[in-house]
Amino acid sequence: MFLILPKALTKNVRAFLFSSVLLILFTPFRAGAQNSYDIDLLTKEFHSGRRDALRKLMDDSSVAVFFSATIKNRSNDVDYEFHQDPNFYYLTGLNEENALLLVFKNDVQIGSAAANEFLFLEDRDPKTERWTGKKMGIDGAKTILGIQNAFSSSSFADFKIDLSRFKKVYCLKENETQLFTGFLSTILSLTTLDSYATKEMTAKLRELKTKEELDLMRKAISITCDGIKEAMKALEPGMYEYNAEAIGEYVFKSKGAEDVGYPSIVGGGENSCILHYETNRKKLSAKDMLVCDIGAEYHGYSADVTRTFPVSGKFSDEQKTIYNIVLEAQQAGIAKCRAGEDFRAPHKEATAIIQKRLLELGIIKQPNEVNKYFFHGTSHYLGLDVHDVGIYGKLKPNSVITVEPGIYIPFGSDCDEKWWNIGIRIEDDVLITETEPDVLSSCVPKTTEEIEALMKQESLFNLMKK
Ligand code: GLY
Ligand code: MN
Repeated sequence: MFLILPKALTKNVRAFLFSSVLLILFTPFRAGAQNSYDIDLLTKEFHSGRRDALRKLMDDSSVAVFFSATIKNRSNDVDYEFHQDPNFYYLTGLNEENALLLVFKNDVQIGSAAANEFLFLEDRDPKTERWTGKKMGIDGAKTILGIQNAFSSSSFADFKIDLSRFKKVYCLKENETQLFTGFLSTILSLTTLDSYATKEMTAKLRELKTKEELDLMRKAISITCDGIKEAMKALEPGMYEYNAEAIGEYVFKSKGAEDVGYPSIVGGGENSCILHYETNRKKLSAKDMLVCDIGAEYHGYSADVTRTFPVSGKFSDEQKTIYNIVLEAQQAGIAKCRAGEDFRAPHKEATAIIQKRLLELGIIKQPNEVNKYFFHGTSHYLGLDVHDVGIYGKLKPNSVITVEPGIYIPFGSDCDEKWWNIGIRIEDDVLITETEPDVLSSCVPKTTEEIEALMKQESLFNLMKK
C-alpha cells in the first residue's frame, strides 16, 4: 500500500497522520475481549465452586498456578481468534489474555490482602477498547467474576510472590505466557513443581460435568444436529464438500454458536477414508458417501457428531452393508456406556462386531486384520476440549463421551473392489448416567431408512439455488 500525504500539510500534521496510519496498520485484530451480552454464560458461582473443588484436591501448603492462553499471530498484524485456555476458563470465566490465577490451599498474605485466591488481569484502557473491545478490568473481576482479590497484571512484579516456601506447586509444564515469562520459568525450575498432579486434578474435575455445563453441552449438540440435518437435506451430486461444510457452520452461527469445536471434517468418496480430513474442496458425485464430522462450540463447550450419508440420497447395497455394520457396532458400544464399565468397554464391543462382520464378508481373512479398516479409538471425553481431559478409567455418571466406530476401505485395499472408497463413521455424544446411557445427539437420524427419508426433504439452501 502506498501512503501519499499532501505536501501542503505541515510537517507535524503529516507526522501525526503517518503515525495514525501506522497505528491502523499495526494494531492487531482479535485480542480477547469480554462478552456482556449472553445471559446464559456459566455463573460466577460455578467458577468459584470449581476453584473450591480444586482446593479440596490440593495438598496442604500448596498453590496452583494457571496462566491464560496467549494470542497467536496468524500473519503480519492479524492474530488468530483468541481462544481461552480451557482450565483457565473453567476456573475463572475470564476470556482474556495476559492473566494469571493463583489458588492456594489456605489463606496467604499477598500485599495487603489475606486470601486463598488471587487473579491478575489487564487493566481496562479506553483507547485499546475502541480497537479490540471491552475488557473485564479489576472491577469487573470483582463484580462479574466474583474474584475479590483481583489486581492489575502490570503490578504483578511488585507483589514479589515467592512460591518456593510452599511444599507443592501445581502448574502445567506446557504453559505459555507472554507477560509472566520470568514467573513461569521460576516455577518450572522448582523441585516442588508437580505437573502430573496438576493434570490429574483438572482432568478429575472436568470429567464430571455439572448441570450448568450439561445445559451448555446440550445446546452445542442440538445446534450441531440441526447443522447436520440441514446438510443432509441440501446434499446433492455436483455440490462441493465445502458447500456441506458451509451449511453446517451457517446453522451453527445462526443458532448462536461462537465457533466450531474443531475444524469441520467433511469428506466424500476417497476422502471419507481419511479420519481428520479438513481440506473440504472436492466436488461430490452421486456414488460418493459423505462423512460429516462437525461440532459447534457454545460458550466454550464443544459438540462432536458424525453422520455418513450418500450424496445421491440413496445408499447402494455395498454402502448399506458397511453402514449397517458400523451402526450395529455403534449401538453395541452405546449399550456399554454405563457407570462402572471400563472406559474402553464401548471400543472392545464395537471392535468385536466389526471384526466378526468383516470376516463374514471376506473383507478380512484374519481377525487381527480388523485394524486395517478400523484403526482409531471409539471414544473420548467431550467438554471444553473436543478430546476432553478425564481420568479414562471407569465410566462415571455426569461424564460425556463419544461413541464413534468406523470402517474405512481406501481405493486399492486388499479386498473386492466393490468396497473401495467406502468410509463410514457414526458418532454420538453420550451422557453417562446412574442408569441408561443418554444419547444427547439422538436428534439427528441414524438408520439408513431415516437418513434416506430426511434427504428427500427440501432444504432452505436448495431453495436459495432455485
Ligand atoms: N471429531 C474428530 C475426532 O473425534 O477425532
Ligand atoms: Mn470424536
